[in-house]
Amino acid sequence: MDKLLVTGGAGFIGSDFVHYILENTDKSVTVLDKLTYAGSLASLKDLPADRFRFVQGDICDAELVTGLFAEHDAVVHYAAESHNDNSLSGPAPFVQTNLVGTFTLLEAARATGVRFHHISTDEVYGDLELDDPERFTEHTPYNPSSPYSSTKAGSDLLVRAWVRSFGVAATISNCSNNYGPRQHVEKFIPRQITNLIDGVRPRLYGDGRNVRDWIHADDHSSAVLRILERGRIGETYLIGADGEKSNRDVVEIILQAMGRPADDYDLVTDRPGHDLRYAIDWSKLRDELDWEPTYRDFGAGIAATVAWYQENEEWWRPQKAEAEAKYATVGQ
Ligand code: NAD
Ligand code: DAU
Repeated sequence: MDKLLVTGGAGFIGSDFVHYILENTDKSVTVLDKLTYAGSLASLKDLPADRFRFVQGDICDAELVTGLFAEHDAVVHYAAESHNDNSLSGPAPFVQTNLVGTFTLLEAARATGVRFHHISTDEVYGDLELDDPERFTEHTPYNPSSPYSSTKAGSDLLVRAWVRSFGVAATISNCSNNYGPRQHVEKFIPRQITNLIDGVRPRLYGDGRNVRDWIHADDHSSAVLRILERGRIGETYLIGADGEKSNRDVVEIILQAMGRPADDYDLVTDRPGHDLRYAIDWSKLRDELDWEPTYRDFGAGIAATVAWYQENEEWWRPQKAEAEAKYATVGQ
């Protein structure tokens, strides 16, 4: 598997994977990305020209993707509309990219026989009560809440059907919330960091008690590589790092890293249908594929992420006004 095609490689996690592969292996990488509002060529700067190629295009373009599949040994599929709040204000691109796009790639995998890994989310399982002792496992029934998570759930089911019905050589991973550099400022952690840089207090939806299970994007990337190389075809693997934190806790850690009082935030209008808690049991990945996360200190990871946004304003500044204007329309 020397030649990888990475869809959505100009986005947050896809670009992390591209950097991770080029730094830690001898593989070459082609990125296929439409460069929507969420994609940025600045996330793919200074990569080795002899091992990296960028193609701008849409995963729904069957002719383009079938030709690209035929030139590669494996495809890792990150491209998606990824933000829950956007899926509430405008679901159409979520149906198109997440469902029709994944279908188009699966048909290319069927036609070419190329190995396929599908990147998905823990949100397909719905949410948990705060005091539920259970966490999501590979056997948890699907129960998605939002237009975003329902289209990701549908895309997972398409992958499973193409494996069973057509023998496509695919695996699926469902990961928890990622943090790290190069995440769009619409998302929770970068939004609060860049608000604070701009002198604006962080904004917590509802009562701020919702829980997310945080993992550093580099740990997600190392897990995906492990599944690509050693995962069993047709299997699903959950990826997590025991990182459960309430949104209040996360904001307090950001405020502390930026030298501000712990209560220096506002509560704003809640997200409709807001999932309460996600939590991942990643023991299958540990026991079967011998994978472990390396970022265990969330406070240190947040401090490094804060430093990245402080030092890379030219990367995020072009996104900021538009992202905040969208939030202003819904009182967030
Ligand atoms: P992102 O929004 O930062 O990036 C998405 C990328 O896909 C962008 O570069 C965009 O230009 C590209 N894209 C969108 N539509 C396209 C199309 N039709 N054709 C080609 N390219 C297109 O998203 P992200 O946060 O990096 O998420 C990447 C993947 O990981 C998604 O599948 C998401 O569901 C999944 N995921 C994300 C998280 C998280 O915490 N961010 C956690 C688990 C899983
Ligand atoms: O769980 C994996 C998922 O994590 C991925 O599939 C998604 O692509 C990714 O966007 C993320 O979804 P969330 O909805 O959990 O992430 P978001 O960053 O939008 O919000 C995280 C939590 O913070 C959530 O409870 C909503 C809350 N929030 C968010 C914003 C932007 C706030 O309280 N204030 C905010 O300003």
